[in-house]
Amino acid sequence: MPKPKFTTVRGVHDSLPESFFTWRHIENIARKMFSLFNYEEINIPLFEQTSLFQRGIGTETDIVSKEMYTFEDKGGDSITLRPEATASICRAYVQHALYNKQKLNKLFFIGPMFRYERPQSGRLRQFHQIDAEAIGSKDPAIDAEMIILLMNFLKSAGLKDLHLQINNLGDLKSRENYSVELKKFLLEKGSSLDTDIKDRIKKNPFRFLDSKNPQHQELIELAPTNENFLDTDSLEHMDSVKSYLDSSNIPFTYNQRLVRGLDYYCLTVFEITSDNLGAQNAVCGGGRYDKLVEELGGPETPAIGFAIGIERLMQLVSESTIEESSHTKNPEVFIISLGTEPMSLSFKISNQLRENGIRTELSFDGGSMKNQMKKANRSNAKFAIIIGEDELSNNSAILRNMNDSSQEEITLAGIERIISEKIQ
Ligand code: HAM
Repeated sequence: MPKPKFTTVRGVHDSLPESFFTWRHIENIARKMFSLFNYEEINIPLFEQTSLFQRGIGTETDIVSKEMYTFEDKGGDSITLRPEATASICRAYVQHALYNKQKLNKLFFIGPMFRYERPQSGRLRQFHQIDAEAIGSKDPAIDAEMIILLMNFLKSAGLKDLHLQINNLGDLKSRENYSVELKKFLLEKGSSLDTDIKDRIKKNPFRFLDSKNPQHQELIELAPTNENFLDTDSLEHMDSVKSYLDSSNIPFTYNQRLVRGLDYYCLTVFEITSDNLGAQNAVCGGGRYDKLVEELGGPETPAIGFAIGIERLMQLVSESTIEESSHTKNPEVFIISLGTEPMSLSFKISNQLRENGIRTELSFDGGSMKNQMKKANRSNAKFAIIIGEDELSNNSAILRNMNDSSQEEITLAGIERIISEKIQ
């Protein structure tokens, strides 16, 4: 095999046809599930003004401070390839005043995201998300409904051994108070930490709780939790979410260390992990963001959402759970032409068959009968149509059943009807 001159850039993958069976299966189930829960599809641009993400996600987050694909366009504007969908969807919500249409907008989006992260298994620089946002309600029932949608979807996709973790981040005020306390604790007790880690703690102490470094685990264990900072409303909200989940038989772990890496979150946050993934074990993450819409210039609007990483999901979905219907179908008919004039006729017949809904493949580049028959076999077509000079002059064709190798002569007039009947 010659060495390719060009390959994909680091952290970016092609999706070849065979992986598309699984991909389409996942998208089909997602769309079905969203429709069941009354979500509408929305499309957002691949790139936005950089300041949208700085404002929306937070300048001290890993995403904004290190991972964005940002460039200046020819007009001198700073543009960023979207690293996630929430900020863009909220921008669209405000820009198009979707709040005038209905109080609660349930939206979903499926598409690629871009983050300049260190590539490893399950971590790419271009990856895909299934993203859902319910904008316009602060009812804890919507938090629970969203988690149920997610669990039902993952179960329908055939996933097992999943762990749902939830936490209560409280409102912005309690987050701020907790942040001050956590920072103080980490800087006092972690005096031997590297300077860059201390700098990061000063900017955003929550990120430290997410650290996977074994040397940080003891300090993380000892760090104060936010429970003393939560106000009554936040506590009641979480109690209500938990009881909805309990009554729907959705098991979960309440994990006070779950912080999530984006600044917009408040109250309910959640993550689903799988034992069957490596270090990057989060299949999905989400939470409430009651201030984001306002931050982007819209009215006060509570909201909640999640995003699932499709590539991580693909690692977990077993081929055997995929329905036959989501596989690419083989052609029903493969047309063999022996000569230039027969090929012109075959070309016309292929148009005619396809217009009648019959999946048809032509044999291109000519070749001997033996050669073309090999191609017909490889295509897995049910029937081959053979047209040579004799058939051309008789206005007929040979129809070969590829299963039992039986052959018969058929007339070209009404060929689509004859074939339709055979393939029933
Ligand atoms: P996130 O946790 O940054 O949340 O990403 C959600 C999911 O996207 C992750 O759980 C993971 O499956 C996948 N993912 C993230 N980064 C990568 C990567 N580099 N390579 C492969 N997969 C990745 C968000 O993006 C929020 N916008 C979710 C949300 C929606 N919150 C509220 N609404």
